[in-house]
Amino acid sequence: MATLPRCRNVTHVSLEISEQHRKALAELGQFSLLDAIVGRRSRRFPVGGSIPDGPLAYESTEPSRSITEVERALIISVLAGVTGWNFGITRHPGYAPNVPNYPGSAGGRTFPSAAAFHTSQLFFTDDSGTYFFGSRDAAPQRELTAEPADIESWISSTADSYRQLSSDRLVLPREEPYMEGHNTWIANWPGSLLAFPVADLSEHLVANLNFFAANGYVIYDDVHDNPVPGIEKFSSLTHFDDPVPLSFVEQYTLAEASAELATATNTGVLLLQGLGLGGWTFDGLDRLSVLGASGDPKAPGLGFSYDTDDRWAFPNATGLEGVFETLVPPFVDSVADGVQKYYQRKFGPGGPGHPDTPGPWSDTPKVRSEYLPAQNLQELVTVQAEYIYKRFGKLPGTVPTVHVLMYLQAQNLDRGFYDHKFGPGAYLPSHTRHDEVWS
Ligand SMILES: Cc1cc2nc3c(=O)[nH]c(=O)nc-3n(C[C@H](O)[C@H](O)[C@H](O)COP(=O)(O)O)c2cc1C
Repeated sequence: MATLPRCRNVTHVSLEISEQHRKALAELGQFSLLDAIVGRRSRRFPVGGSIPDGPLAYESTEPSRSITEVERALIISVLAGVTGWNFGITRHPGYAPNVPNYPGSAGGRTFPSAAAFHTSQLFFTDDSGTYFFGSRDAAPQRELTAEPADIESWISSTADSYRQLSSDRLVLPREEPYMEGHNTWIANWPGSLLAFPVADLSEHLVANLNFFAANGYVIYDDVHDNPVPGIEKFSSLTHFDDPVPLSFVEQYTLAEASAELATATNTGVLLLQGLGLGGWTFDGLDRLSVLGASGDPKAPGLGFSYDTDDRWAFPNATGLEGVFETLVPPFVDSVADGVQKYYQRKFGPGGPGHPDTPGPWSDTPKVRSEYLPAQNLQELVTVQAEYIYKRFGKLPGTVPTVHVLMYLQAQNLDRGFYDHKFGPGAYLPSHTRHDEVWS
């Protein structure tokens, strides 16, 4: 296990919006979604960029330059900002009039989440440091309203919530195996913003175990071809004789979380089209190096804790103390405590299943009070989660506890590269106007 001390000092950041940027935000508001979708392209060459050889060899004539803080706040807001209350999961015939209790958070964010589990949080890095934006349990700043969103206060509240983890850009050697060879020329380049959501798959798996338990299913360990010991106690469940394979539940967990990570970053890429920034979404960075869980001192990354075990092909990152704590030791004393923490998040104060948590409905306390209660589920979920942890030495057993996949890189575009190396139309009018609008 390794936790870097540099991650313990956190400072908050406030946003100042100049008159010029107020106008730029207003102009951006006129950029159409269709233009963003049709105009989207991975534009990877920034000011300060360099390609030494080959048909696309080019040396930027301008120095690297960071994007503005307002652009950054907007991108971070679009990637993971809170936008209201989520509407929950509406109905299940198996236990109506109780409503499904799947959501992990009451809030809604810019991207959808499998059954509103919401297990991811955003990290980002640029020339000014490395940051955390923890939005998954934040209450919305405003109630439902027909009025257009107040973008300035939205992005300001996002910026108020940043936590600076370090004053350094994420240390990630620009060489293999720390990143794919095709990314070494540019990934995490000076001047760029690199932002990436990180998912807690221990929580996502527990949420899926709760989901299947609510629907009358237990799991079966198809990897070792044995039932979960003690599972007979739950034989009255509707689908007890049709258990769900453990490997399926874990693949489902990984795939669902990946869908969220990709949706969030692609929404960010759409924003870049309107802003007139270069950038793209990609996955070719070594995940353990990014998390700092590879054991290689050249890649301290985010300084996540991790475990190693002869049974596993790779180290397993488990979380970052005080910042991103998963449902497994050392962040809880036991997996049973981790499951309890999950139900507390869901049913405790501020959670989606707590009657006093505000929400979007005309009678929110009534809807929240009808959440399918945890009582009959928690014991089964605990038995299954404890079994997996014991049998595989980690939770989930067959996929990582912490999942990082998709990255958004945003940067000032070097139009000269595109003018020299591409035909007309390689960038948008928003890119042509960018420096004038956003300087
Ligand atoms: C899952 C995924 C992984 C990707 N990984 C990389 C990558 O490691 N490096 C890179 O430069 N682009 C990466 N990309 C971007 C693709 O190369 C790009 O989307 C593709 O070439 C099509 O171009 P377009 O985005 O301009 O339409 C990735 C895209 C996806 C969806």
